[in-house]
Amino acid sequence: MGSTRSRYALILAAGKGTRFKSEKPKVLHEICGKPMICYLLDRLPELQVEKAIIVVGQGAEEVQNALQGYPVEFVRQEQQLGTGHAVMSAVPALNGLDGNLIVLYGDTPLIQTSALEELFVKQETTGADEVLLTVQLDNPTGYGRILRDSAGQIFDIIEEKETTEEQRRILEVNAGFVCFGIKALVGTISQLSNENVAGEYYLTDMVKVLRRNGRSVETVQVEAADEEIFGINDRRQLAAAAVKLRSRINTRWMEEGVTLIDPNSTVIDSTVEIGPDTMIHPGAIIEGKTKIGNDCRIGAYVHLANARLADGVTVDSFSVIRDSRVQSGAVVGPFAHLRGETEVGSSVRIGSFVELKKTVVGSQSIAAHLSYLGDATIGEGVNVGAGAITCNFDGAKKHDTIIEDGAFIGSDSQLVAPVRVGKNAVVAAGSTVTEDVPEEALAIARSRQTNKAGWTKKG
Ligand code: UD1
Ligand code: CA
Repeated sequence: MGSTRSRYALILAAGKGTRFKSEKPKVLHEICGKPMICYLLDRLPELQVEKAIIVVGQGAEEVQNALQGYPVEFVRQEQQLGTGHAVMSAVPALNGLDGNLIVLYGDTPLIQTSALEELFVKQETTGADEVLLTVQLDNPTGYGRILRDSAGQIFDIIEEKETTEEQRRILEVNAGFVCFGIKALVGTISQLSNENVAGEYYLTDMVKVLRRNGRSVETVQVEAADEEIFGINDRRQLAAAAVKLRSRINTRWMEEGVTLIDPNSTVIDSTVEIGPDTMIHPGAIIEGKTKIGNDCRIGAYVHLANARLADGVTVDSFSVIRDSRVQSGAVVGPFAHLRGETEVGSSVRIGSFVELKKTVVGSQSIAAHLSYLGDATIGEGVNVGAGAITCNFDGAKKHDTIIEDGAFIGSDSQLVAPVRVGKNAVVAAGSTVTEDVPEEALAIARSRQTNKAGWTKKG
């Protein structure tokens, strides 16, 4: 007893999630860029949990693969016979442990650390054998109801399926977050029965079991927890949870000094980082490991996925940047597309309808209009004219293009790779360049113009 007892966590994630109608296990469905179960796992270090065990069953291998890198142990529940049965499956893994165990359902990602901390603290300070988080809901439909005796002591939880008309009117519900003394749990859980409407072993029946064994059960009520306890059983609830989480994420960034012109239409994954004084316009979608520096401007309907933007970068409206970096002071877009580990140097200008794939652009260079530059290495101070493209693919293989510092690529040129344009060289507009251009040379590769005098008068 006392506050020094070790903390452990058990997460139930063996269910199929039938209502998702998905090939993928429910707990791996993503919310704001992360599988829902990861939100729970990310809470555990703050709670100083010593060990986390995950109960897997349906899609077990997929879940285990997705959670590589988390310091967790897995136990199998071969048949899903209820939440109580899921915990029974973990008994062999719990046997040697002494301390308190928090049991979490894998489909409740919105819970915050403070509520879980309260649960542990209540158990540590009271020494109770079980502590449950309960919430008063205006609409308790679907949740297990808390039954209390005349002294106000909890004596049972009744699942919705089992309730009488009168019990259905109870507004205090089982939030689905519970803490057990491990020894008390392991010593009595075999007494759970499945004699109920669903024929399942309900974890909620542990209240009855423990009390029958003369053990103590306590509850904690958490203020305004109705959002945090939200469980996700179908895709409508997935979308509703995402709305709540997005609002939390956006509020956090505004508190950190980021301006969101319209938070309701701005989609930012929980994995993103943004520097202060950055301004984000409506409709932006910012995903994955994207990192945005200070003082950037992100235009309307910009889509950033695993993008790294240094300080003072402008990404103008309707641009897409995926798996690419942009250095400080560069201006990209509107309508630009950067992908495939492209690197844009400082103070570069990439204009409308320019696509860069696996291309490095040196500082101060410009490709302002209508270009495709793929597998290219472009030096500093280069000017790529409107409509210039690299022909990087011969139908079988990709080839590299090198454009050295200070070169000028005239409008509507094609650079047929592999090819190199030397330092300060000029490619005349409309050229099809198939051979290297030496430094400081002018390359003209187009047929000469002939003017036929009086041509239209002939009739
Ligand atoms: C459960 C509670 C209910 C509570 C509600 C809160 C029980 C019996 N009921 O109901 O009192 O109000 O949560 O959200 O506990 N799982 C397994 N193995 C199984 C069955 C379930 O691992 O055999 C996992 C599921 O994958 C899921 C979690 O346990 O992540 C909860 O199961 P679910 O069926 O969603 O329980 P609820 O009906 O929501
Ligand atoms: Ca549920």
